[in-house]
Amino acid sequence: METPYQNHIDKADFDFVYEPAEDSFLLIDALEKDLEYLQLRKPTFCLEVGSGSGVVITALGMALPKALCFSTDINLKACNMTKSTAIRNNVLLDSINMDLATGFVHHKFDVVIFNPPYVVTETNECGGCGIEASWAGGVKGREITDRLLHMIPKILTPNGTFYLLLIEDNIPLEVVQIMSTYNYKSETVITRKVRNEQQLVLKFYR
Ligand SMILES: C[S@@+](CC[C@H](N)C(=O)[O-])C[C@H]1O[C@@H](n2cnc3c(N)ncnc32)[C@H](O)[C@@H]1O
Repeated sequence: METPYQNHIDKADFDFVYEPAEDSFLLIDALEKDLEYLQLRKPTFCLEVGSGSGVVITALGMALPKALCFSTDINLKACNMTKSTAIRNNVLLDSINMDLATGFVHHKFDVVIFNPPYVVTETNECGGCGIEASWAGGVKGREITDRLLHMIPKILTPNGTFYLLLIEDNIPLEVVQIMSTYNYKSETVITRKVRNEQQLVLKFYR
């Protein structure tokens, strides 16, 4: 998968929006590993929750040119950056400033991806809408992620796939168990040790 052009972004804007890092690229690598599987499913609607700079959803949109891409972020500046990254790379994308996927009442997606704020913090540190929303994950680093897990059955098409980046501190096995209560199967697509952090991307489908 091609890495999107990013030189249009003013480096100073990364004071306000999450700068693509190893986790962003691990999620892109997971999607690349699964590209044939995704292409066979011919996805029409793809959604990235918490898109930050927009590199991940733009990379997916470039690899699946027939798909319509959507992104959300709680941080308005991230929504604007995602939109400009998509435009600069000729990807058709609608970027919406919202909490997770709460605004999608009747809309379902064939692919949903999320690189959440996963760092373990105090509960009162998470739930903001500035740069701190990029990492502050509250208890187990899962407070934001867990809220999305319960929305997945409502926003994912029956044949759809959900990709989620986690670290070991998030207790991935518990996430697998939560998703199994909604009848989702799971697989680990890719893992990578980054400094002292074990990162992985899980995939959920029915
Ligand atoms: C770790 S960053 C990942 C950014 C980008 N997806 C990437 O991989 O480079 C997490 C992103 O989730 C966003 N976010 C945090 N809480 C959110 C929420 N409740 N709803 C939507 N986006 C949220 C943050 O603003 C941030 O852009």
